[in-house]
Amino acid sequence: MTLAPLRDVLADAAREGHGLGAFNVIQIEHAEALVGAAEETGRPIVLQISENAARYHGALAPIALATRAVAAASSAVCVLHLDHAESEALVDEALTLGFTSVMFDGSKLDDAQNRSVTRAVVRRCHDAGVSVEAELGEIGGKDGVHAPGIRTDPDDAAAFARDTGVDALAVAVGSSHAMTSRTATLDLDLIARIRAVVPVPLVLHGSSGVPDDLLVAAVRAGMGKVNIATHLNTVFTAAVRELLAANPALVDTRTYLGAGRAAVQVETARLLQLLAVG
Ligand code: G3H
Ligand code: ZN
Repeated sequence: MTLAPLRDVLADAAREGHGLGAFNVIQIEHAEALVGAAEETGRPIVLQISENAARYHGALAPIALATRAVAAASSAVCVLHLDHAESEALVDEALTLGFTSVMFDGSKLDDAQNRSVTRAVVRRCHDAGVSVEAELGEIGGKDGVHAPGIRTDPDDAAAFARDTGVDALAVAVGSSHAMTSRTATLDLDLIARIRAVVPVPLVLHGSSGVPDDLLVAAVRAGMGKVNIATHLNTVFTAAVRELLAANPALVDTRTYLGAGRAAVQVETARLLQLLAVG
């Protein structure tokens, strides 16, 4: 069993000057591919399950326990992380399921409420030895603070981290969730300014839209954890689509899901190496 708290894994990555890759698990095949990539590269990895993914499965436990079992059977260092949880009850459930990290996303709450709920979540999680990532901001809309054009103020971010006691902080520096083209631009200068005043590692959300060279530059500028989901789904789906198109008579789900899983493992391994910038 090599499940580790996010806080420890981020501290090791920071010492080495590496970015920590964090990828979303939706099906069990994602978990298998991600853990396979971590083993293959010798890099630690964050396996993230979002509140949305739990909703898709009808509950958190089945996909969480499957992911935990895949991680536990591996030699790789894995963080089991609850991603974008808006429900405190789901956070509490994650604590009983063996998660080692949670992201409490209070960005839709007003600022005072976000701070007080995040602080309470931190207290409960830390008592259980579980790390907490959070995000500040109260900008409306589906994409919250991760809409293009939205930027985190360094002093606000520093005050939020101090007030809440979080272990990692999501910041808005130019990326946007669910992009299917890798054309985002990042404010590298802002990352460095936030890094200089915020006492905990920073998290880049919506990294699917960020091209390779900017991912590397973001880590060099001080980004600690890099969240990628949509890009791996693009890779998964392309592999499935290609196989099905070439084999219209195919019916065994293992054949095409296996092709998706293999393609995700290759791309994840490449990204884990890319982020280990040194
Ligand atoms: O929390 C997860 C991410 O921020 C992933 O965003 O799907 O745009 O890569 P993405
Ligand atoms: Zn996100």
